Amino acid sequence: MFILGFESSCDETSAAVVEEVGGRLFVRSNIVASQIPVHRLYGGVVPEIASRAHVEVISRITGEALSGAGIALSDVGLIAVTDHPGLIGALLVAVNFAKGLASANGIPLVGVDHIRGHIAASYLAGEGPVPEPPFLALALSGGHTSIYRVHGYTEWETVGSTRDDAIGEAFDKIGRLIGLEYPAGAAFDKLAAEGFREATGTDAPSLARYEASPAGRDPTMKLPSPALPGDTLDFSFSGLKTAAINLLHHLEQTGGELPRALFAARYTALSVGAVTKKIGMALDRYPGLPVVAAGGVAANSHLRRELTALAARRGVGLFIPPLPLCGDNAAMIAAQGYHEYLAGNLRDSSLNASASDD
Ligand code: KG4
Ligand code: ZN
Repeated sequence: MFILGFESSCDETSAAVVEEVGGRLFVRSNIVASQIPVHRLYGGVVPEIASRAHVEVISRITGEALSGAGIALSDVGLIAVTDHPGLIGALLVAVNFAKGLASANGIPLVGVDHIRGHIAASYLAGEGPVPEPPFLALALSGGHTSIYRVHGYTEWETVGSTRDDAIGEAFDKIGRLIGLEYPAGAAFDKLAAEGFREATGTDAPSLARYEASPAGRDPTMKLPSPALPGDTLDFSFSGLKTAAINLLHHLEQTGGELPRALFAARYTALSVGAVTKKIGMALDRYPGLPVVAAGGVAANSHLRRELTALAARRGVGLFIPPLPLCGDNAAMIAAQGYHEYLAGNLRDSSLNASASDD
C-alpha cells in the first residue's frame, strides 16, 4: 500500500510517499519545502507567514512527492496528515488539503500526532532493523522534551517531560545570543564540537572526559543542570536558559571576552548530560527496553554519541533516525499514519486541527 503523508505544523511544508510492503515501510519520496530563510529574518517562526507559505507550496510539493515515487494519486491507499500539535493556522493548511484530496478521491484518511510521527521516523529503516513496541521513546524537538513508554504503535504513556521550555527552543534562544542564526541547533552542535576539542584535545570525547578536563570544571562557566533532582524523569530548561543568559550579560557588562566554543560545549554538555541521565533512570525503572530517540534535536552529534555509549553500557537497542528524518518531514507522518490505520483510527471530513498536545 502507498501512503501519502502531509506535514505543515511549523515551518516546513512536506509531502511524502511511503510504501508498505509486507508490514515494512519504505520511503519512496519525501519532499520538504523549508521556510527557514524567510523566518530567519525575524529570528524565529512568524505564524502568519508560515501559514501563507504552506498554502503557496503544498499543491506543488504533492505533485513532486507523487512523481518522485513514480505513482499517481489513484495508487494511494491512505492519506495521513499531522493534525496536532503545532501552529493552528499552519496545521490547518495540510489538514484541509488532505481532507479535500481524501474525500474527492475516496481515499481513507488518518490524523497523526506530530510527536508520534517523529518517533515513527525510526520505522523507516527499510530493510534495516526497526524498533517494535514496547520501547522507551525520547522526543526532543523545538517544542517537546519528553520520555514516553510506548506500549504499542498507538498506545503511549508519558513518563517524563519538561516542565517549561523545550530543549530545542532553548538551543535556539541561547544560540541566537551568541550570534548563531535561527534555528541555531546545527551550528551550536559544530561550535560545541570545537569547544570539546579545545577542552580535551580530542575529537568527539565522551562527556565524562570533558567534565574531567580543566575547561569542563571551570567555575566561571558554572550552569545548572536541566535534569530535575530526585526520582522524577522531568526536566526544566528555563533555569539553564536563564543562567546562561545571565552569564552572557555579566560578561558583556564586565567587558570580558566570551570563549564561544567553550561556552557552547558547556551548555551542550549540560543539555545532553541531562537527557542521558534521565533516559538512564528510565532504563533503571523499565529495564531492558530499547530506546528510540526522535525529533530535530536527535540530530545532535554529541547526544547521539552519548546515547550510543549508554545503550552499549546497558545492553539495550538504540534507534535514532538518519539526519534527514530527524527534522520535520511527511514520511514520518505517513509511517505513523499506517499504524493509526491498522488500529482503525480512520477519520472523515470532520477531522480538525488542534494546537495543543491532545
Ligand atoms: O523536530 P523539529 O524539526 O521541529 C519541531 O517539531 O520543533 O525540531 C527543531 C529543533 C530546533 O530547535 C533546532 O534548532 C533543533 O531541532 N536542532 C538541533 C540540531 N539540529 C536541529 N538541536 C541540536 N543539535 C542539532 N544538531
Ligand atoms: Zn517536529
